[in-house]
Amino acid sequence: MERTSAGERASEVVNEADIARWYEGCVFSSDWTTSHFPVWTEVLAAHRHRPARVLEIGSWEGRSALFFLHYLAGSSLTCVDTFEGSVEHHENASLAPSVADVERRFDANTARFADRIEKIRGTSGSVLPLLGIAGRRFDIVYVDGSHYAADVYGDAALAWSLTVSGGLVLFDDYDWNLMETESERPRLGIETFLRTVPGQFREIHRDYQLIVEKL
Ligand SMILES: C[S@@+](CC[C@H](N)C(=O)[O-])C[C@H]1O[C@@H](n2cnc3c(N)ncnc32)[C@H](O)[C@@H]1O
Repeated sequence: MERTSAGERASEVVNEADIARWYEGCVFSSDWTTSHFPVWTEVLAAHRHRPARVLEIGSWEGRSALFFLHYLAGSSLTCVDTFEGSVEHHENASLAPSVADVERRFDANTARFADRIEKIRGTSGSVLPLLGIAGRRFDIVYVDGSHYAADVYGDAALAWSLTVSGGLVLFDDYDWNLMETESERPRLGIETFLRTVPGQFREIHRDYQLIVEKL
């Protein structure tokens, strides 16, 4: 995955060998994440050499967390997860056994970044208000927790107040259609929330994921 767009500095280039090195020795049961790296490297390039404060809602085994920590070398990362898995994990026979030790794998996979990572176990609905009360703010937020529309709406609303002007919010699974009804999928929550903040964001990317910049 060579990033060679015009004007890109040599230091921005991320290739397959870099990615293989980032994940060496890690243990995962799934990969929902690597396919997003081409978009992320491009969208996050401006933050690459900044001390970006990143909030991740939904960390699972740490694959996306490791992307942020490696690619944004000066960043700090706050990971919020129940580490109990989502409904779809429990319903999937091949994933359900992984849920029991997902937190242990997250801890082992991210251990070398102990000084840059803050793990908070809990629901996003209970943890994000506490981050707000503590005055925490973030430059980049990755929303990848519960997929229920109402939960994603809540994550979006809470994340919005924690995101600085000029910050980015990345919504995963905008185009996810594994579940049958709209209320079980993220899109309705994302779109309904964004309709409440007209003129306050710029859309940067829309495909499987939706990425916006807060103005
Ligand atoms: C799809 S996985 C995250 C994948 C991860 N971002 C990656 O790319 O490697 C979703 C995660 O969200 C967590 N989760 C589900 N509902 C949650 C909630 N209400 N609050 C916090 N975490 C939640 C699950 O435990 C699971 O680990």
